[in-house]
Amino acid sequence: GSAGSAPRRTAPIVLASNRGPVSFSVGDEGTLTPRRGGGGLVSGLSAIGTEQESVWVCAALSDGDRAAARQGLTDPDVHMLDIDPGTFTRAYNGIANSTLWFVHHLLYDTPTKPVFGANFRREWASYEAYNRAFADALAACAEPGAAVLVQDYHLSLTPRLLRELRPDVRIGHFSHTPWAPPDYYRLLPDDVAADVLRGILGADRAGFLTERWARSFAACCEAVLGAEVGEVAPDADGLLSITYEGRTTVVGVHPLGADAGFLRERAHRSDVDARLAALREQVGDRRTVVRVDRTELSKNIVRGLLAYQHLLRTRPEWLDRVVHIAFAYPSRHDLPEYREYTAAVLRTAQEINDEFGTPSWQPVILHVNDDFPRSLAAYRLADVALVNPIRDGMNLVAKEVPVVSDRGVALVLSREAGAFAELGEDSLTVNPYDVIATADALAAALVMPEEERASRSKRLAEAGTALPPTEWFLQQLRALTAGR
Ligand code: G6P
Repeated sequence: GSAGSAPRRTAPIVLASNRGPVSFSVGDEGTLTPRRGGGGLVSGLSAIGTEQESVWVCAALSDGDRAAARQGLTDPDVHMLDIDPGTFTRAYNGIANSTLWFVHHLLYDTPTKPVFGANFRREWASYEAYNRAFADALAACAEPGAAVLVQDYHLSLTPRLLRELRPDVRIGHFSHTPWAPPDYYRLLPDDVAADVLRGILGADRAGFLTERWARSFAACCEAVLGAEVGEVAPDADGLLSITYEGRTTVVGVHPLGADAGFLRERAHRSDVDARLAALREQVGDRRTVVRVDRTELSKNIVRGLLAYQHLLRTRPEWLDRVVHIAFAYPSRHDLPEYREYTAAVLRTAQEINDEFGTPSWQPVILHVNDDFPRSLAAYRLADVALVNPIRDGMNLVAKEVPVVSDRGVALVLSREAGAFAELGEDSLTVNPYDVIATADALAAALVMPEEERASRSKRLAEAGTALPPTEWFLQQLRALTAGR
């Protein structure tokens, strides 16, 4: 096959995800620089630590990764699959990010998209090949009876393929995204809709971030496959059971939380202090509304800016008294929709600055380059955090800001974020499409009395760290290996 090198070791615990813990960029003289991967998935899995005897199988995402994989520069615990670049691009951009991600986040402009034609079929064949390459590698890495934990929508076919190769291993699949409701899910061609579900049902356990997404998945299995869905006994460590073709998969809910210890320590290092001082210099004694996201269609950054604009238009008392700090770091720029969206974010921020800015006040400070210590500095400074996704599997930013905040933060949170299930009570919740309601929530957040803000923020930090990444992982591992 196209997957290249044999694994360097086998292990009793094997992880699989598209994006691994590091990615390599190629410098001017061909030098390879490692860089930590982004997104909630990597945040969750990186906390496992090296004490666990495990192998992490991931894809080479770039020329830099392919070179690093060939030169053996990755950790021996990381097995990077060198998948043919064309196959990889069709699977990752075409199916994972332009199809499955769009379906689960309800992102299609349906009068014109999606169009499932010949090009889609070619991409789908590549997605199948990519999933097969993972299944082959996992079969080679897993010790007899191993626990294999397969992550996310890139790898929905892998559990079933792996089971065919290695009936001895225990297989878990985890979705870090929302799951589409049946009517929307059935936009997919019938065979594709069925194969994705059957692929995941090849696992012993299918995990989700919230009960809402878990029930959506089960409803799709019922509607598309005619599978049988039942509640499970409380001691079975799951929410639902799905029986299809004589096998049962247990559906579990594992709401990934923020890593308080790591964040608190990291947020008080000197590089963060320096960036905090620089931000304070810019902001002065004004209030701050902070957001930090990938520049991702589902994050709803443009409506967030429009809400802030509406606030300034309708509440002149805030002119020169507030700054919106928006960090929107680059993501998935191979897709034209993302490039256009990034342009719209820049344009909207510029319009607001043109409309209200003065020589001494810049109403929006927008940064589009990724800088983790600067994000932490903004978390510490935030009076208000704005998290208003259209739809989001969890959203860890909502959980992280209250942990790091110096003086407590008021959280404006979309009811469509997975985090809403745990944080809804102590946040100001909004319908993400309603720009006026979002402006109202921002205004209320800005005037929230200090004591109320501090006590709500404390409860948000507690709720948001209830299941730290290591526990989140071990919980799934225990459930998967129970009774063995
Ligand atoms: C989300 C997905 C992850 C993905 C991350 C970053 O969190 O659930 O699977 O890794 O976004 O996206 P990227 O396409 O850069 O890996």
